[in-house]
Amino acid sequence: MAGRIYIFDTTLRDGEQSPGCSMNLQEKIEVARQLERLKVDVIEAGFAIASPGDFQSVKAIAETIKDCTVASLSRAVEKDIDRSAEALKGAVNPRIHTFLATSDIHMKYKLRMTPDEVLERTKKMVAYAKNYCSEVEFSAEDATRSNREFLCRVFETAINAGATVINVPDTVGYTTPDEFYDLIQYLKNNVPNIDKAIISVHCHNDLGMAVANTLAAVKAGATQVECTINGIGERAGNAALEEIVMAMKTRNDMFNTTCRVETTQIYRSSKLISSITGVSVQPNKAIVGANAFAHESGIHQHGVLAEKSTYEIMTPESIGLSKNTMVLGKHSGRHAFEDRLKVLGYTLSKEELDAAFEKFKILADKKKVVQDADIEALLSNKAIEIPETYKLDRFVINTGNTITATANVRVIKQNGEPKVIEEVSTGDGPIDAAFKAIDKIVGVSFSLEDYKLNSVTEGQDAQGEAYVKLRRDTRLYTGKGVSTDVFEASVLSYLNAINKMIYKEKLEEQL
Ligand code: KIV
Ligand code: ZN
Repeated sequence: MAGRIYIFDTTLRDGEQSPGCSMNLQEKIEVARQLERLKVDVIEAGFAIASPGDFQSVKAIAETIKDCTVASLSRAVEKDIDRSAEALKGAVNPRIHTFLATSDIHMKYKLRMTPDEVLERTKKMVAYAKNYCSEVEFSAEDATRSNREFLCRVFETAINAGATVINVPDTVGYTTPDEFYDLIQYLKNNVPNIDKAIISVHCHNDLGMAVANTLAAVKAGATQVECTINGIGERAGNAALEEIVMAMKTRNDMFNTTCRVETTQIYRSSKLISSITGVSVQPNKAIVGANAFAHESGIHQHGVLAEKSTYEIMTPESIGLSKNTMVLGKHSGRHAFEDRLKVLGYTLSKEELDAAFEKFKILADKKKVVQDADIEALLSNKAIEIPETYKLDRFVINTGNTITATANVRVIKQNGEPKVIEEVSTGDGPIDAAFKAIDKIVGVSFSLEDYKLNSVTEGQDAQGEAYVKLRRDTRLYTGKGVSTDVFEASVLSYLNAINKMIYKEKLEEQL
């Protein structure tokens, strides 16, 4: 009988905590909704004690999500567990996830605790969490560099204290598939009460083996896997959800497993994460990279045309990438547009559809052919609307290779009485001039950490998708703008990041 594997997604916790991947409340809720559509089993919504903002997002996700377990991370200390329990109050299926390091190196230098103290703390804190919640997960941080006999004693203690899931993290991405397989087998054979808990694994990708290690653990008997969309996460990232799921599905002959994931939602989930974080997926990335299903060489193309299975081990449709032959353009009607949205997996309310159709018509006037990627770009942030304190009214840019670039930007400030503000600036090129004019308008200090421009599709009339990352103190804010005019896309992305910054700071003042 095929073994059921539980998918624990930590995009919103381990993923979000990696540099440049932070998200605001609306974005996190939208990601959680998408993970629910993707049908993961557990959504780790955050680390409730980390900040008031983290607490708010765990709480909001717990209250929104009905069809997945919602987990919150806590160190093995009472105040963390209290905060997680409080944030999870509204969840249909809450889970407290608590962790404590078990390797000699972590116990000695980080925790400054003896092994006996770690055992005692594990027992107390799992039991403490159990008072709040029937589902308690215990993670032995740095498990793969821990003494095996000691690790067994820790897990035995955690299970006796009420842990329903014991997690084996490869915190520093150090293990190898054979070694990890062996460790899971060792735990199965040497933790006396192991049959009372689910064995979970959590692999980091420092040596590029996170997915291989996870799959080796599945073969050895782990039944929960922790992973993130696009493999985002601390340092080199976490094991990528899409790779684990598609490997288990495509090589079911090897793994003989089932999971609940709706694989046709994989592509959309990947797009959503890269669109929100501004962290693009490398083109040759397995499953979701732009080239993952592209056949360039003549021999391969010939083979695929004759019989797909010659070079295709899974279909693009299985991850929700449709091969669209229907072209939309300015003569396309509302029905055709609505049909296309359905195929792409969007369900919009009447108002959302009206707004999207209007945007589509404007775009179709500028572009002869509107492709799926254009529609996705139009809709990518539809549910993530934040107050637009500064709304672009118009801009004029004067540039050339023999003059100093000058930009004139006019915005409407919509905080209280709407106010028109206009500024002019020169700069090192047109984008710099426009950004400097906006800096004058906004008048607060932040720095530009990153700016990039992608083309949504091919062709001279392609839409440009601009991303900026602005730093204010320790925080990074990602802004995105899409337009057939790359200057406009850039200005919109800059204003979007500024609006997010203002919104976040206002929310924090209220907390
Ligand atoms: O990598 C790790 O050890 C973790 C734990 C908190 C599960 O993220
Ligand atoms: Zn981790």
